[in-house]
Amino acid sequence: MAKIAKLDDIVSLCKRRGFIFQSSEIYGGLASCYDYGPLGVELKNNVKKAWWKSVVQMRDDVVGLDCSILMHPLVWKASGHADKFADLIAECKKCNTRTRIDHLKEKLVPSAVEGDAEQAEQHTEHVSIDTAQAKLHDLSNKICPNCGMVGQFTEPMPFKLMFETQMGANIDDSMTMYLRPETAQGIFANFRNVLDTTRVKIPFGIAQIGKSFRNEVTTKAFIFRTREFEQAELEFFCKPGTDEEWYEHWKQQRFDWYIKLAHYAKACVDVEYSFPFGSGDWQELEGIANRTDFDLRQHQRGIRTLNKWFENDRDLSRIQLADEAKDYQAGPLSYFDDVQKHRYIPYVIEPSAGIDRSALAFLVDAYDEEEVRGETRNLLRFSAALAPIKVAVFPLVKREGMPEVAINIYNDLKKYFNCFYDEKGAVGRRYRRQDEAGTPYCVTVDGQTLQDNTVTVRERDSMEQIRISTGQLRNHFREKLDI
Ligand code: GAP
Repeated sequence: MAKIAKLDDIVSLCKRRGFIFQSSEIYGGLASCYDYGPLGVELKNNVKKAWWKSVVQMRDDVVGLDCSILMHPLVWKASGHADKFADLIAECKKCNTRTRIDHLKEKLVPSAVEGDAEQAEQHTEHVSIDTAQAKLHDLSNKICPNCGMVGQFTEPMPFKLMFETQMGANIDDSMTMYLRPETAQGIFANFRNVLDTTRVKIPFGIAQIGKSFRNEVTTKAFIFRTREFEQAELEFFCKPGTDEEWYEHWKQQRFDWYIKLAHYAKACVDVEYSFPFGSGDWQELEGIANRTDFDLRQHQRGIRTLNKWFENDRDLSRIQLADEAKDYQAGPLSYFDDVQKHRYIPYVIEPSAGIDRSALAFLVDAYDEEEVRGETRNLLRFSAALAPIKVAVFPLVKREGMPEVAINIYNDLKKYFNCFYDEKGAVGRRYRRQDEAGTPYCVTVDGQTLQDNTVTVRERDSMEQIRISTGQLRNHFREKLDI
């Protein structure tokens, strides 16, 4: 049974072995932004590859897309983000910590239900930027999560979640733009383009992986919630009335994906994962939503708002979204079913995963410690698809021609798998370093290799060693790694 990792174990291993570093560390660090080091970038790329393979490559009904991060500001008016994408926060007067008010816990009274705040966390309520509304919240019985003070908060204030930037070199005519808070809107904005240029027919999906940005009030738990993160989103368009069926389909598909990649899946339900922090530990890993026809309808309104955009000096705050056309079902983002001769706005099922959050879940899942001959062995039991390095190649010693043979093997295998060559230090220590990096196989060239062309192949989890002839290595790993 694998050891349940503590978050500190993961953070320290990630830093020690070059998976993840704090951003701008040499300047004292930038809160809630992280950089992926040499092993981390391989892990993250593998998570993305596995997602893409399962959601796009292996399916005949999904196509891919890669949209720009900056989009026309009206996109965010139509999507609702410009008006609603703000949280209410309050500042503790004693310790000056700012907390989202839906994260504040009540001082315990007999009727108070534990875990309310965690629940609120999972179903984030984004409220309208309306200060009057903010005043309606009673914080007199709420506890500061940092210092424990009760009821000593400032008035709740809205906190903008979208990052703003300017487009245009001249301050006078520059335009406020937003870094996208979700990748999904790029997909909706390209729905027509994809329909017109491919042979897709409903039901079909459009998938995208890319960076999103949210000026989160509280960031937490390492890479679990950060201000810059990567999402892997699928918008699956279907006929209204079939949406429940597709919702169930995608829930199962996505659940199976996590289970397949996580060896232990210590806990993974709908799709939550038991992370080693927080009171209840259960945290959202991926949201699967039935977005109905909301987004496409909103963008049809957005398109109708374009003239107001120019009339109002391209100032989003002065613009009201145009009313929906009476014949919206036949609008520019509608779909024509040429069998039933019927036009409609499709419904959308959206499995939306976080790449960084998934990487954290896979790290937690893979982490293990065990006693081996009186020493602690730290290891990451990654599945082969996720392991940053698939095969490490060593000469037993740095003489007698062993390095030359090992380098030849390494040069051959690296054409097919991500490999690593190491000749420094005792071989036992080299094995341990690879265990900690999650490398499933190590190949060692020894004295016998020079006699009979066989090497030892050591398997990470069992530490078992077998002898294989060098000519069979490539096929052996192809089969074992299944990639
Ligand atoms: N398009 C729908 C959407 O964006 P969401 O529940 O806000 O829905 C989907 O986000 C997923 O993106 C989450 O389940 C999580 O994995 C990831 N995610 C969201 N905010 C994040 C953040 N601040 N840091 C890391 N991952 C985040």
